Amino acid sequence: GQAAPPTAAEAPEPGAGALGVTDLTGPRDGVPDVAVTLTARAERFALASGEEVDGFTVNGTSPGPTIEAVQGDLVEVTLVNESVREGAALHWHGIAVPNAEDGVAGVTQDAVPVHGRHTYRFVARDAGTYWYHSHQVSHEQVVGGLFGAVVVHPNGVAPSAVVTATATSMGTTTITTTTVATTAAAAPRDLVLPVHTYDGVRTVAGRSGPTRLAVPAGTPLRLRVLNTDSANMRAWLTGAAFRVLAVDGREINAPTPVHGEAVHVPGGGRVDLGVDVPAGGLILHVGGRPTLSVGPGEPPTAEPGTAPTRELDLLSYGAPAPLPFDASAPDRRFEYAVGRRIGFVDGRPGLWWTINGHLYPDVPMFMVEQGDVVVMTLRNSSGTVHPMHLHGHHVVVLSRNGVPATGSPWWADTLDVASGDSYEVAFVADNPGIWLDHCHNLQHASDGMVAHLAYG
Ligand code: C2O
Ligand code: CU
Repeated sequence: GQAAPPTAAEAPEPGAGALGVTDLTGPRDGVPDVAVTLTARAERFALASGEEVDGFTVNGTSPGPTIEAVQGDLVEVTLVNESVREGAALHWHGIAVPNAEDGVAGVTQDAVPVHGRHTYRFVARDAGTYWYHSHQVSHEQVVGGLFGAVVVHPNGVAPSAVVTATATSMGTTTITTTTVATTAAAAPRDLVLPVHTYDGVRTVAGRSGPTRLAVPAGTPLRLRVLNTDSANMRAWLTGAAFRVLAVDGREINAPTPVHGEAVHVPGGGRVDLGVDVPAGGLILHVGGRPTLSVGPGEPPTAEPGTAPTRELDLLSYGAPAPLPFDASAPDRRFEYAVGRRIGFVDGRPGLWWTINGHLYPDVPMFMVEQGDVVVMTLRNSSGTVHPMHLHGHHVVVLSRNGVPATGSPWWADTLDVASGDSYEVAFVADNPGIWLDHCHNLQHASDGMVAHLAYG
């Protein structure tokens, strides 16, 4: 990674050392540790809270089933398209899968037609909170419900220790909770909470109303909040201080208790919040609404605390730790500047997003060599916030508006860049292929806010 870029004399012959298909696909043999079939349908369905919507389901529900694996597991998922007319494909948002498993219709595979199937195989290398979603006509299919959560547990958690429990709720819904085996009286609880808005109805784990979950005081909770919408939101707890344990599936180093601050979650992003349940209970708020009330006996219905007034700044949160590479002497530097102008995209006139001044698809690829350390500056002067998502890699935030990061390494796969802001991020090009680097406001992506990172 630290070697100087090859000179013309040492540069490989074209085609020499070219990537083989095995560099780009997951293992084709071996017995999977986790095997799941996901059946996608276009249909009218009832949310857990009763409202009916026209959209998309996975195995009959939206969100679809949570896929759980343990770090190192070989995961095999077969997508069956029963009735999604435009075809479907599954992308593993945040997971560094081999390129051919990335599920991007039109780039890494063809969309799976109705009655077709496609099998994805990858090793779940990194623990964390991720999600899967269709990557075909995403601004309709993801918005309409074709997605689910993926949780990769750290090594040392036996799959048999993972059980599904039912939340106490006013309705009949189940929130996926997993109990991690332990001898302690209050077993840690792990809650998977995808937030999604269907036809204007904001839901958490499929429910639009508040859910109550009875657990003993002192229970350590890990709340995995996934923002599957295009717009960003805030998440916070009242009733107890909490810690931000992870962002986009990557642990924060030495997270300190957060009081009176909300956590910003970009569209597509995830945060894992950690808290010990206090005797008086606590309430999780997402998007400004109380959504989950947790406590011993009767969980609280009234606010056990006050709403935060500020947003936590991840740039200075937690304690510094060394990066696994040296970002001070990168092999490549790129600019990714988002603006806006009038022009034509696919023959449609409009006011469109530009990337480095170009309109889609006339956006040059960002070219790297395997092993490169890459520093990229993301700038936004477009007047609107953009959640920038790079496939297949995590980037570490080095600075914002010239102010260097002073907290824990802040790794992200989906980074909100507000208008007027610039972020310097770094990553190692260690996953060969062609990867999208696009806006996760899915309407913006459909309107051309898409670039590609390609390995030469
Ligand atoms: Cu979650 Cu290209 O997307
Ligand atoms: Cu955008």
